[in-house]
Amino acid sequence: TGMVTVDPGFMNTASCESQITYIDGDEGILRYRGYPIEQLAEHSTFLEVAYLLIHGALPTKSELDAFEERVNRHTLVHEDFRTFMGTFPRHAHPMAVMASAINALSTFYPESLDPHDPETVELATVLILAKTRTITSYVHRASKGEPLLYPDYSRGYVEDFLRMTFAVPYQQYEADPTVVAALDQLLILHADHEQNCSTSTVRIVGSSQANLYASVAAGINALSGPLHGGANEAVLKMLTEIQADGGDATNFMKRVKDKEPGVRLMGFGHRVYKNYDPRAAIVKKSADSVLSALGGNDELLDLAMGLEEIALSDDYFISRKLYPNVDFYTGLIYKAMGFSEEMFTPLFALGRMPGWIAQWREMMTDPQTKIGRPRQIYTGATSRDYTELDAR
Ligand code: CMC
Repeated sequence: TGMVTVDPGFMNTASCESQITYIDGDEGILRYRGYPIEQLAEHSTFLEVAYLLIHGALPTKSELDAFEERVNRHTLVHEDFRTFMGTFPRHAHPMAVMASAINALSTFYPESLDPHDPETVELATVLILAKTRTITSYVHRASKGEPLLYPDYSRGYVEDFLRMTFAVPYQQYEADPTVVAALDQLLILHADHEQNCSTSTVRIVGSSQANLYASVAAGINALSGPLHGGANEAVLKMLTEIQADGGDATNFMKRVKDKEPGVRLMGFGHRVYKNYDPRAAIVKKSADSVLSALGGNDELLDLAMGLEEIALSDDYFISRKLYPNVDFYTGLIYKAMGFSEEMFTPLFALGRMPGWIAQWREMMTDPQTKIGRPRQIYTGATSRDYTELDAR
């Protein structure tokens, strides 16, 4: 076994070799399969990026058509599953419902569980991509006590997601093209990010040969925490609280710098990016245009930009290389689109699903893969003898 060293938070431990996503944290570079995130965000679509991440190459027109068609046809869920989605308490956090729902999906599709058969894995891939979209809209509607709508196969992935989420039953609904394009782009930006907390979770669960559903459901739970995907919700709560306190950004930043327990500038900082997060740059532009098109809350956007401005010229943040990350501005866009704060992290999960699937598949077919089993350095009591209860 050799010498064991402790590396808390895996600051300096690579868990695998991977060909999926490249990040250069000093230069602020992010590429999926070699393609710069800026180009994909501008020219691609979410399902095309999902194909790219999972299959390693951009699809031809006929490959993309076939893939979209297959995903589209599987968006309907079993009627019993639909009923199940409506049975959580109204106040349940959507992330808890979503993780439970993805886990429960496996019980409806026992024919898609074999992690070693390529055709079965492909089926599970399509089922999960398709049904996660439906589940995300149901999570939203169930939290409001609204009826769960059926998919419309004639519409695109994002377009029909918006309809299923926001349409009034039996009424015409046409999604705003600005919203469709902006949400599609946000999903692309979230689609993969190499070995982050949730992706490492997916891989480590899968390394025991657990099936794809079990693995990605674990990923959703890892994503839910406020230091990870939950940060997008936490940012909006933070902005709203600062505003309710009179909007004093300088005072809030003082509390952050004084390291008041539990007070961090949410949406700032990153383990890998030490220059800027290229996703945040794209999101900030999008926030500006979506909010002006939809008439979102400009006061909160101004407040966020004010906090960023203070941070970027403050030694506390400069010396620690803290910059806005992807979560800093996304919440403002989601809010303007009509999503409640609790839905922000489920939207992140919807976007990250292709990445989790691609990483799980890469791991499963990598001859280097072994069960994930870190070591420890034991610091507890040395050997001692059991004492009977009445002698303690
Ligand atoms: N506000 C104030 N101080 C911070 C922040 C922040 N957001 N982030 C880091 N620091 C300080 C931290 O206190 C530490 O200071 P010191 O050296 O004096 O102890 C230093 O910067 C290094 O921080 P760290 O916590 O050791 O860094 P990490 O790599 O372990 O954590 C992080 C990375 C993203 C968890 C952290 O920056 C953080 O908590 N940020 C806020 C939550 C957030 O926005 N998360 C989203 C991450 S990006 C996308 C995603 O995963 O969802």
